[in-house]
This record gives sequence, C-alpha cells and structure tokens, in this order.
Amino acid sequence: MTQSQPSLALHPLSLAEIAALVGGRVTGDATVTVSAPAVLDSRHGEPGGLFVAMAGERVDGHDYAGGTRATAVLGSRPTSLPTVVVDDVPAALQTLAARSVARLRERLTVVAVTGSQGKTSTKDLLSVVLSGAGPTVATHGSCNNELGVPLTMLRADAHTRFLALEMGARHVGDIAHLTGLVAPDIAVVLNVGQAHIGEFGSRAAIARTKGELVRGLAPGGTAVLNADDPRVVAMRALTDGPVLTFGRAEHADVRVQDLVLDRLGRATFTLRTSGASARVALPLVGAHQALNAAAAAAAGLAAGIPLITSAVALSTASLSKWRMELRTLACGATLLNDSYNANPDSTRAALDTLAAISGRRRIAVLGAMLELGADSEAEHRAVGEYAAAHADLVAVVGETARPVADAAGARAVAFPNNQAAAAWLHEILTDGDVVLVKASRGARLDEVASALG
Ligand SMILES: Nc1ncnc2c1ncn2[C@@H]1O[C@H](COP(=O)(O)OP(=O)(O)OP(=O)(O)O)[C@@H](O)[C@H]1O
Ligand SMILES: [Mg+2]
Repeated sequence: MTQSQPSLALHPLSLAEIAALVGGRVTGDATVTVSAPAVLDSRHGEPGGLFVAMAGERVDGHDYAGGTRATAVLGSRPTSLPTVVVDDVPAALQTLAARSVARLRERLTVVAVTGSQGKTSTKDLLSVVLSGAGPTVATHGSCNNELGVPLTMLRADAHTRFLALEMGARHVGDIAHLTGLVAPDIAVVLNVGQAHIGEFGSRAAIARTKGELVRGLAPGGTAVLNADDPRVVAMRALTDGPVLTFGRAEHADVRVQDLVLDRLGRATFTLRTSGASARVALPLVGAHQALNAAAAAAAGLAAGIPLITSAVALSTASLSKWRMELRTLACGATLLNDSYNANPDSTRAALDTLAAISGRRRIAVLGAMLELGADSEAEHRAVGEYAAAHADLVAVVGETARPVADAAGARAVAFPNNQAAAAWLHEILTDGDVVLVKASRGARLDEVASALG
C-alpha cells in the first residue's frame, strides 16, 4: 500500500555533501554517494543506502557496520565503512531529513497525523487515498518519533507527490519538534485521549501537545479536526488558516452518517459534505475506523482529492498487522486480533466491536494496558466493568491486568501468563465463538493469538 521511493531526496548525495549539510566530518572515501534509504537496523541496509549507527545502552550500532549491505554510515565515531562522523547522530539525521525535504518542498504535499488513538490506522487509510492521486511516501508501521519521522522523510525523492507522516508524542514539545523538521500542509488531529497520560501528567498537557501540530502548520495550511472531540475542535483557535472538520456531528464538514456494522463488525457508512456524498464499505473492523476514514477523506479534500475518489479508495483499504485482524480459526471460532497495542479508550472501542459481531459467545482476552501511571489500577478496573457488559467471558492475563478480572466479576477468568490463557482457549473454543485479543505491546498477547493457530 505504501509506495516507497528507492532514493534519498537529494540523491545521489556524496558523503562530503552530507557532512557539509549536517556539520560532520568524513572518514574513508568522501566521494562515495548515497542513493538508497537510510536505516537504523544494519540488517535492513541496501547497497547505496545509509546505515544510521546509534550507540545504545546494550548494543552499539557502530559495531555492526561491517555486516550491513549499506554503503555508508552516519555515526558518532569512525567505522569500517565510509562514515560521516557527528557528535549527535539523531540531530544530524533530523537535519539531513529537514534539509533534504526542504529542497523538494514546492512540489510536495505534506500531511501529518496525530492523536491518542488511530494514528496508524488513519495514516494507512490516508496513504491509500493519496496513492491514488500521486506517488506517496508514508510512515512504515508506527515509526512516528524523532527517528522514524526523519527516516520516512528521507524516503521522499523528486518523484514523490505526497508525504504522509504519523507523528507521535510522549512529552509536551515532541510534536513541535517534528513540525520543526517539516511544517505540514495538512495537519490531522484525531482525538485527545489518555495514551501515555502517565508521562504527560494530564489530559490538558496531551491536548496542548496535539495542538502543536496545528500550530506547526505551514503558512496557509489546513487543519483537519475531529468535530466530535471538544478538545480537538478547540484547536481551531490555534490557526488562522482553513479548517475542515470530520465526525458524526451534524456540523462536521465531512460527516459520517448511516453507519452499520456487518456480521463481522466491518463498517459501512455514508461520507457527506455540503456538495457530495458517497457510500463507503470499509474492509476493516470497528465503528471507529469510519471516523478514521472520514479524517482521511477530509485530508484528501484539503489535498484536492474529490470525496467520491477517496470513498472508492477507502473501500479497498487494508491495515497493518495485529490491528483488528479478523481470522477464522480451525475450530470455527472467529479471532479478532488487536494485540498490537492498547489503552483504555482503544480497548473500549475494541469491546464495542466485539459486541457488534454476531456469534455464540463473545470472549474478551485482555492483558495489561501499560504507561497509565497512577491511574493504572482504576483504569484497568473500569475496563473490567466495561468488558463484563460487552463480553460473555473475560479472560485476563498477567498481574498488571488483575484489576480487570476483579471488576469483571463472575464473567472473569484470570491467567498468570500467555501460555496458560492460550491453553484454556484451546480447551473451550468452539464453532461460533468470537474472541478478541487485546493488550499493550509489552504484554505480547500476539503470542496468544498465534497459539490459536
Ligand atoms: N478513532 C479511534 N478511536 C478509538 N480507538 C481507535 C481509533 N482508531 C483506532 N483505534 C484503536 O486504537 C488502537 C491503536 O490503533 P492505531 O495503531 O491506529 O493507533 P496509533 O495512534 O497509531 O497507536 P500508537 O500510539 O501505538 O502508534 C487499535 O486497537 C485500534 O483499533
Ligand atoms: Mg501508531
């Protein structure tokens, strides 16, 4: 779905030129040129590419330069390959990306997406919409931080028309830092939830951080805001430029109407603007995906793509793995694998979807939701109550998630680890059951999903 371009924005760029751009010095042959993507993992290096070596606490990337297929290295010390040596590797990567994209800026439309939930889903949907209109480079997976964003930017080249960037944040100022690398023409803000609240401290701080995307717009850029989330709509005040809203609200510029979920929980709905309307049948599970699709269509409108064109593209979309992945198991049960990540809001959205799928029994397999700080126990309890109201059985995995089981009461079964939960599921699952598997990445509940065959 994502069309990656096999060359750097400035390609071919010699190491001498890179060193001049980032204020570094070259060891080895400075005439070597870079013409393929930059990578952080030495194993992903391609001939002509740039291996960005980082010195971590346990492993030092520089030690792996000898094993990469990349042609050159950006690092903080010389390696066995021609190397641009700098003091601060992340800062140099960011400078290189910013300067490279600046040269392409006139013919590029840059769309950035942030929010507490749905960034990757929306970015993937957006990538489908934009790809229909021109060569598109989009974030791979969730590479949305101070390293992932510049690496994505460096995949753009002279042929690229659209750059779709997922931008994530853990602290106030993180998004402002990213928009400092490239100011988006279109800024999509999905929602202000509770993801990483432990690190942010408050929802107000989260709202302020997401707002940095709107403040960081290029002059005249368009803000695409969720009409259903008061904290997001309030971001109107942060820009003098055009604003497009999306959502179920009556006044939304791109409105989701007549939403129905089919037997498998896939959303079909109408997208309506003042001048057009189109029916969309998303091949994705979950009512919340309709809002993500509306966000993508609104961003498409801001980029000059007609609503009808986006609607057709959206009806053919698919998502990254482990996000609401639907599979029929050998025993006839339906597995809804959403084990990629979780927080209280996204878990409730997944439980809504589980409840909307028709089946004999609905079984929620839930693990820890991490990074909730002092609210952790209360949030797990609240999800436990919600799960008891939406599922027939609530299987809870691990000690952190224990309050989910306590609150779910008689419907709950608790397991110490993924193996025990998988063994129990093997025993009880039969034809017609529907199973949701969901937890934060750290809980690795994909192990349960894959153990089910
Ligand atoms: N608009 C939404 N509202 C609530 N939950 C959502 C929404 N969109 C997606 N989700 C759910 O949130 C979870 C994460 O989705 P996704 O990966 O798209 O989000 P993300 O913002 O990229 O997350 P991350 O911060 O991990 O990168 C999934 O369980 C998904 O089903
Ligand atoms: Mg993501």
